[in-house]
Amino acid sequence: MKSILVLNGPNLNLLGTRQPEVYGSVTLAMVEQDCKAHGTKLGFDVECLQSNHEGALIDAIHAAKGKHQGIILNAGAYTHTSIALMDALISVEIPAVEVHLSNIHAREPFRHTSYIAKAALGQICGFGAKGYLLALDALAAHLAEAAPS
Ligand code: DQA
Repeated sequence: MKSILVLNGPNLNLLGTRQPEVYGSVTLAMVEQDCKAHGTKLGFDVECLQSNHEGALIDAIHAAKGKHQGIILNAGAYTHTSIALMDALISVEIPAVEVHLSNIHAREPFRHTSYIAKAALGQICGFGAKGYLLALDALAAHLAEAAPS
């Protein structure tokens, strides 16, 4: 069975209580549960991981090589700063979809830049927790196109 890694970066462990007016009231545990259920419907195994540490996120991306066929990444604030995360994604050559709960382009100018976007198939932002499920759909379509069964 194909496997997808859903990777969340700093402060996303606080979902549900962190600025609910911006990020919604859904917890990370609920997001992860929904991703696994949606993955099952699409025929994917979904593994979820969250870290507040840049190096741990990079290690997770490296470890995905040979194990996961796709990555969904919400890198939180590292999105706007981390050339290292961008390089890690480029290095492993695993198709990735970038997700943000909020519409980063409608927020402060420093959130408009994404290093992740340079290494991703595409970006989904502004649809709250639903964005993760849209990203799973996008990855499923991409993988089916790349290797039709
Ligand atoms: C975020 C947007 C980032 O700018 C912010 O630093 C986050 C969350 C989002 O999901 O909307 O931590 O990635």
